[in-house]
Amino acid sequence: MDLYASIFKRKACRDFTQETLPEEIFEEISQAIEGFQPLYPDVPLRYRFVTQTKGLFRVRAPHYLIVSGEGRDGEKESCGFIFQQLTLWFNAHGIGSVWLGVAKEKKHGRNQRDLMTLAFGKTKGSVDRRIDEFIRKPIGQITNAVEDLCVRAAHLAPSGLNLQPWYWEKEKERVLLYEKKLCFPFSLVYSLSHVDLGIALCHYALACGHINKPFQFKRVDGQDAAFKKKGYRLFGELS
Ligand SMILES: Cc1cc2nc3c(=O)[nH]c(=O)nc-3n(C[C@H](O)[C@H](O)[C@H](O)COP(=O)(O)O)c2cc1C
Repeated sequence: MDLYASIFKRKACRDFTQETLPEEIFEEISQAIEGFQPLYPDVPLRYRFVTQTKGLFRVRAPHYLIVSGEGRDGEKESCGFIFQQLTLWFNAHGIGSVWLGVAKEKKHGRNQRDLMTLAFGKTKGSVDRRIDEFIRKPIGQITNAVEDLCVRAAHLAPSGLNLQPWYWEKEKERVLLYEKKLCFPFSLVYSLSHVDLGIALCHYALACGHINKPFQFKRVDGQDAAFKKKGYRLFGELS
């Protein structure tokens, strides 16, 4: 399954038919998830399928997948990393999907450990878009390595409110990934930047796989005195 190819055509789908998918697809989805590369092998995540959700910015769809954790560090980026592979897998199978940040299961409300929801199903229109239809910041605003194939794949990653809260700084032997500190009012209402960073890392890793380059990510917290861009904090290192 070429998930890499889907990076360049996937789009958030919000216009679903209410037709349910065949029963066997759920087993296929579960098998696909088991085969996806994890970001942190020691951060376990669970997921469940539900058919009804409620909450702000919800999208009506025949199916939802809710990801939950155990309250460990790293769960948000891990969730973005693993389940972005699923959104690309959906795209490759002609199934539409969209990440939902605040939707909750209708029956039980939000479990404290729930991290994210994915709405998915058959769509009324295409699940694909052309490369010139992506709305993203100019690549020079998110990296000093505009020609790097892996960073170019990360540039197309979706993010909540399309904020793209990242900067990829290429040095000789490594790439440093920075998280953009959000400005008011986003800083008050948006807490999913680490999911976004995990999603972008997923695109980066798939591009590494595409060119047979090893992908190694290490989480590093804090400031980097050498980095001159204001309003960013160090998030991790790729070597
Ligand atoms: C963490 C996260 C949360 C999101 N939450 C919502 C949401 O609640 N409702 C919605 O319609 N779209 C949501 N989206 C979809 C984004 O708005 C969409 O991915 C972004 O605008 C980029 O568009 P694209 O996915 O078509 O490239 C979310 C995306 C991410 C990554």
